[in-house]
Amino acid sequence: MCGIVGILGTSPATPRILESLKRLEYRGYDSAGIATIEDGKLDRRRAPGKLGALEDALKASALSGNSGIGHTRWATHGEPTEANAHPHMTHRVAIVHNGIIENFRPLKEELLGKGITFEGETDTEVVARLLTSYLDEGMPPRDAFHKTLTRLVGAFALCVLISGEDDLMFGAREGSPLVVGFGEGENYLGSDAMALASLSNRLIYLEEGDWAELTHAKVQVFDPAGNPVERPTTISQVAATMVDKGNHRHFMQKEIFEQPTVVAQALGRYLDPNAGKVRLPQMPFELATVPKVTLVACGTSFYAAQVARYWIEKLARVPAEVDIASEFRYREPVYMHGGLAIFISQSGETADTLAALRHAKAAGQRVAALVNVMGSTMAREADVVLPIHAGAEIGVASTKAFTCQLSVLAAFAIDLAAAKGQIDETQEAAFVEELETTPKLMAQVLHHDEDIAKIARSIAHARDVLFVGRGIHFPIAMEGALKLKEISYIHAEGYAAGELKHGPIALIDENVPVIGIAPEDDLIDKTVSNLQEIMARQGKVILLSDGAEKEAEGMYAHLSMPSAGELVTPILYAIPVQLLAYYAAVEKGTDVDQPRNLAKSVTVE
Ligand code: G6P
Repeated sequence: MCGIVGILGTSPATPRILESLKRLEYRGYDSAGIATIEDGKLDRRRAPGKLGALEDALKASALSGNSGIGHTRWATHGEPTEANAHPHMTHRVAIVHNGIIENFRPLKEELLGKGITFEGETDTEVVARLLTSYLDEGMPPRDAFHKTLTRLVGAFALCVLISGEDDLMFGAREGSPLVVGFGEGENYLGSDAMALASLSNRLIYLEEGDWAELTHAKVQVFDPAGNPVERPTTISQVAATMVDKGNHRHFMQKEIFEQPTVVAQALGRYLDPNAGKVRLPQMPFELATVPKVTLVACGTSFYAAQVARYWIEKLARVPAEVDIASEFRYREPVYMHGGLAIFISQSGETADTLAALRHAKAAGQRVAALVNVMGSTMAREADVVLPIHAGAEIGVASTKAFTCQLSVLAAFAIDLAAAKGQIDETQEAAFVEELETTPKLMAQVLHHDEDIAKIARSIAHARDVLFVGRGIHFPIAMEGALKLKEISYIHAEGYAAGELKHGPIALIDENVPVIGIAPEDDLIDKTVSNLQEIMARQGKVILLSDGAEKEAEGMYAHLSMPSAGELVTPILYAIPVQLLAYYAAVEKGTDVDQPRNLAKSVTVE
């Protein structure tokens, strides 16, 4: 899982590739590298670590040439060392790769058997050596590349340069996305439209199994059998301007503070406050006929799905099931005729979620993609797209995408309830009005920034932190724990408050902070009782609530939240748990925007 880019250009390639790699760092940042071709000769620079390390390497030793390929890596096979960094090179080829070559072991054995030696441990090097072996046998480049592709099993997007061939670049797509871009006397390849945003907005999205031969003058696309095929050219809407941090120290902080604005933006696209109605995008089916909703996602998006289940079942009385995408298809889900499957993904590219989408589609389900990135693979393959309008999210830990997902899912639940006749027009208008208050209340929560920072500093050096909540706030507890783990590396777990006494309470002592998410609702008394049980065992309870003033007295800390209904509270309570994680990470001095071992978009299963 990585980001790749290729430029067959007419001006120095290295700075342009670096600019593209900056846009691709969300796909991984374990190492980076660039190879160029000049006068038929291949050359490369690679560096373990983030892109800055590669920039330093290039300052120390520049890389000339107008054409080149670049890579930013999220390690799958082999540690993130320089030897395992892409591009992989032989005396004939330079290759960058996104994905996994599943049959790399037998291929490696075969090549070793022919006396071919290897430098690193990556599956990608096998592709480089295999292609080289065909070129060395005398095959013309196009045949050699095609033959190589026929030998590969797995998910991959590839970009290839061949020594002696200044006017040639190959690309291939199988499982991992690859886009072709067109310029003036130049052509490009990239993992996505964002990679090419500063180069071109005229794009072809390669289809599964497609491969492409680029020269400066033209691009030819072939199918897996090697027959030329035509693919439609689209105009990308991705803006070329790089998003900056503004006055904030980190993208994550900026994105947390942007939430009232982007949530208002998202709700503006889905709510018609004058009519008191929800307006969803045109659906190719009647919502009223949907017998069941299946929600599938990974990571933070999965917690958005869990919250949505409560809304869908409570308001629309439609059964809803929620699955982690990596588990979904393997449990052989029972689909219901006419069922609606919603795939939630900020990036629209997460491999497991995409595979689940294809599984549901092949089974004849109605398929919706709730994504932030329009033009992403999920958006292109779904029957209906529900955009979340969060704007580019750069911080690896998802924040504003989460609250925008929730906002759109809340609107969806209201519309489904109306379509099903579970709520009348007056009730729909009341729900719309309630949801409309969200941005204003979110801004109020953000005013507590300083108080939350203080609490965060007091938990930053804990070894374990627990988050507890009930009902619709249980997923928010899990999201809070995920945020804290991701960026501060503190071990954290989210529990249903009532479940604590079935095991986790054994962890409690005076060193374990417990964050209680307890809005004033039907369940508050029960949650507060669970928190008292923790206090009785010396646990350090931090209460997030708009109620329980009296009970809060003996607690370690109490953050007073604004009051709201259940359509809004999960969105509001997302903010303090995001800020707790953020300030704990700042206190610990971790790399907030690019935490270790993670990537923003996980394009391998
Ligand atoms: C990665 C990210 C998470 C994200 C998850 C799902 O693991 O680190 O922050 O929630 O992928 O990503 P998606 O783009 O599908 O929402």
